[in-house]
Amino acid sequence: MENCKIIAIANQKGGTGKTTTAYNMGIALAEIGKKILLVDNDPQTNLTTAFGIRNTDDLSISLHDVLTMLMDGQELPDKSEYILRGEKLDLIPSSINLSVTEINLRDEMGGERTLSNLLEPLREDYDYIIIDTNPYLGLLTINALAACDSVIIPVSTQLWSANGLTALLNIILKVQKKINPRIRVSGILITMTDERTILFREAMDLIDEYFKDKIRIYDVHIPVTVKIGEANFHSRSVLDFDAKNKAARAYAAFAKEVIDHGDISGGSNTADKAQASA
Ligand SMILES: Nc1ncnc2c1ncn2[C@@H]1O[C@H](COP(=O)(O)OP(=O)(O)O)[C@@H](O)[C@H]1O
Ligand SMILES: [Mg+2]
Repeated sequence: MENCKIIAIANQKGGTGKTTTAYNMGIALAEIGKKILLVDNDPQTNLTTAFGIRNTDDLSISLHDVLTMLMDGQELPDKSEYILRGEKLDLIPSSINLSVTEINLRDEMGGERTLSNLLEPLREDYDYIIIDTNPYLGLLTINALAACDSVIIPVSTQLWSANGLTALLNIILKVQKKINPRIRVSGILITMTDERTILFREAMDLIDEYFKDKIRIYDVHIPVTVKIGEANFHSRSVLDFDAKNKAARAYAAFAKEVIDHGDISGGSNTADKAQASA
């Protein structure tokens, strides 16, 4: 599509809600008529499992294979070979051997652009391409940052770390200077909130203190709910599992917020601003 946006969901901390956000915002955007491609760029394959692939060993082709073909200079098979079609959205699945790709990317000249080379031609088919990333600031995540237009950073109020976020912003800044000048930080999505707790308020105060004037903090928060785990267990999005649930409604509202404001970075260079004062 003409205005296709490639969004990376990143935070090198595990368990902040990256995969849950990639999947549920993808479903929510699809439900308002957007064409969505999800990319599982994590060897842990959680997004692929959420999509309904129980055993990733059964996949005949995955992200590892197509990235390897690109590194080897081979021609890619037809898109239909490596893009799985779901009811509402599509997925390029991951497999455990994506961790081998990460090692091979190191020896590859220009290796940090491999994922970008895969995704650029796919822009014509989608409104949003959403990349889920692994909890590690290695070459797979660098590839996601090199390939994207913007980054959404899910931050759990239960796992808040200013140092971790500053490290991520520094990497984004480096990627912006060296590989991908168009990258923007769309914003921080606060996840797993329980507004009744003192912890929630303390974490929110700290997040505000460090980042409020530098990075958009999305208005929508994603509340903590057991329904996310239950939906996951059944390989469904929480929107499909229980559309009335508070997290389902929050992801639907978040999708609208992304459409309305997500592309606006709040300045010419949020990564720069954030880094300067972090
Ligand atoms: N809003 C939420 N409420 C309750 N549990 C959640 C919520 N969001 C995510 N989880 C659970 O927390 C765990 C980590 O979430 P996940 O999206 O996999 O994080 P990441 O991809 O950043 O590691 C998963 O077990 C997931 O089901
Ligand atoms: Mg994950």
